[in-house]
Amino acid sequence: MKKNIHDLIPGGAHTYSKGDDQFPSNAPTAISHGKGAYVWGIDGHKYLDCPMGLTSVSLGHAYEPVVDRVIEEIKRGANFQRPSYLEYEMAEKFLSLVPQHDMIKFAKNGSTVTTAAVKLARAYTNRDLVAFPHDHPFYSYDDWFIGSTPCNKGVPDAIKKLSVTYKADDLLSLKELFDKFPGQIACVISEPEKDNYLPENYLSDSIELAHKNGALYIVDEMITGFKTDFPGSISKYKVKPDMATWGKGIANGFAFCAMTGTKEVMELGGIRNIGQEKVFLTSTTHGAETSGMAACIATIDVFQANNVISHNHNIGNKLHTSAQQVINKRGLGKFISVTNTDWWPVFNFKDLQENTSSGMKTLVMQEMIERGVLFTGTFVPCYSHTEADIDFFIQAFTETLNIYEKALEDGIDKLLVGPIIKAVFRKYL
Ligand SMILES: Cc1ncc(COP(=O)(O)O)c(C=O)c1O
Repeated sequence: MKKNIHDLIPGGAHTYSKGDDQFPSNAPTAISHGKGAYVWGIDGHKYLDCPMGLTSVSLGHAYEPVVDRVIEEIKRGANFQRPSYLEYEMAEKFLSLVPQHDMIKFAKNGSTVTTAAVKLARAYTNRDLVAFPHDHPFYSYDDWFIGSTPCNKGVPDAIKKLSVTYKADDLLSLKELFDKFPGQIACVISEPEKDNYLPENYLSDSIELAHKNGALYIVDEMITGFKTDFPGSISKYKVKPDMATWGKGIANGFAFCAMTGTKEVMELGGIRNIGQEKVFLTSTTHGAETSGMAACIATIDVFQANNVISHNHNIGNKLHTSAQQVINKRGLGKFISVTNTDWWPVFNFKDLQENTSSGMKTLVMQEMIERGVLFTGTFVPCYSHTEADIDFFIQAFTETLNIYEKALEDGIDKLLVGPIIKAVFRKYL
């Protein structure tokens, strides 16, 4: 008998966000392939894609200029014993987008670069503590971050104690943290913005506060990069953190991530300062595999030749304004909200008691999937999404609201066809 994927792969996937417990039971069990803004389940069903590969696919699935560039490059070889010529080209190209920074290091995963940035900050400051917002979802699968979540089995207490947290986008909370641990915090690492707008000058003020306290500031552009702006929020808000970390959308779904930073900090990971103590920064076999770099170069070329950001923001704007209209028309504003963030509209679903409800969210996902929309509660606009796709989404959403109203009246039990989705970061299975 054919084995279940869970017999072969713990969790049945390679991020917990793709797991069975994150989707209603009518979701495609696996994806066969994707093209543009659509994906096909292995049973042949076609879906409009909303999450776009955990936000990594900024242009569209199997986007030809990217695929062609990757094929061209991999025919010349994937990995070599000395740096490939592409590493220089890639470094120059990416750094030309980030004038705040002088040096760059590549990796295959976002966690690798966020962890590397934290390590470099510790080495630079000779301090141990790392600070990040407790109300942001994810920075790394490494111990310094996972130790701070309920899902911290396997992380030694000594490591957990080195992570300290504050409230996102709240300067006072960050200040209190610095006051509580004077001279001990090596760095603050934070996403620059989420699904809400930032208090004015928050980013520059928080960078200044960190510097005043002798700490470095790392902006994690993993999600915001190539989305809020090009290249990201640090250019949008014109700020200069000591380091920034990049991934997801920068290579249209291919495994290419990077950390950028000022020479003063990044050179610590170099080998030129003879006699200085060596800092073992990232050092990975596949960090500069040619396919990822080719994909990133091609993605940058498409962003530079076309106004991708403006297209994507127009799509996001149409989505959240149309969804809001439907919600208002039905008088469901108390129960459903959608952020007016053009780069990434995020929905929240509540029950009759007006509490955020994973049951209601599961029901919405189930009904959207039933109507051909792979929806997880957010919409990540990409260059392949069209206005017609948004109309298709809104049609499915409008029909789904009929079921939502029924669920508010009669409860969800008879409407859900399977179990309710669960939190990724939970203590027990
Ligand atoms: C803000 C942020 N930072 C870092 C990461 C880690 O990236 P990766 O999953 O590539 O290791 C993620 C992944 O979701 C993320 O959302």
